[in-house]
Amino acid sequence: MDWFAKAPLDAHWLILGGTRRGKSALLQLRARALMKRGVEAITAIDPHGEFVRFVAEWAANPHNGVSSRVLHVFNVGSNFVFGLNPLYTRSLRPSWEDCHDAANVVLSSTESFFDQASQSTPRVGRISYVAAFVLARHNLTLLELPQLLSLGADEVRRALLQDFDNPIVRCELEELQQMATRTPREFFSVVESTKNRWVRWLADPRLARILGQKK
Ligand SMILES: Nc1ncnc2c1ncn2[C@@H]1O[C@H](COP(=O)(O)OP(=O)(O)OP(=O)(O)O)[C@@H](O)[C@H]1O
Ligand SMILES: [Mg+2]
Repeated sequence: MDWFAKAPLDAHWLILGGTRRGKSALLQLRARALMKRGVEAITAIDPHGEFVRFVAEWAANPHNGVSSRVLHVFNVGSNFVFGLNPLYTRSLRPSWEDCHDAANVVLSSTESFFDQASQSTPRVGRISYVAAFVLARHNLTLLELPQLLSLGADEVRRALLQDFDNPIVRCELEELQQMATRTPREFFSVVESTKNRWVRWLADPRLARILGQKK
């Protein structure tokens, strides 16, 4: 099996075999080998969900050494789609730009969910951006998002007021910064509603099962 794991990234495969001869198992080995090598993302078109579920469970297990990057799972219709942790930045001390990019990836990839949840306000989007930025900076994952947003909004508020001196986002965040300074109570309630939205997303039972939190 070693040659299979080490084959070039651009190799093409056609796997033929009778029923129950191990075609799916072979594909899973290939996916694991690619993740071990640190590929950016894997796309699996998997109508029955059998492949993705096993690979995601394997990846979520810290013993397999890839879980700091993995653990971002989308539920699209009745199928699973999963990719690598979008908050992973390849660096223990990520740059401002790395965190900015990671936060934007998270926001755009969850946008449709929050649109469906309706009443999506720009403030919620901006708080989410700041929170995702802070998580990326501290090498954390989306699973820590509810805790971050639960700390009386203090950490988010501190980050918002101190860490965003960058001109690219300064204008965008100005209104929020004023709110955090002048009307902390209102700010707190926006953080609360942002948290509630994310908790609903993260509480999808299929997500929890793949993350190993539920049987
Ligand atoms: N190398 C292996 N050694 C031992 N058992 C294996 C091996 N590869 C697969 N198996 C087992 O054989 C069974 C069938 O494997 P798998 O599901 O990969 O087959 P498949 O060819 O994809 O079948 P299907 O045509 O039904 O999709 C599974 O229970 C799997 O765990
Ligand atoms: Mg199969």
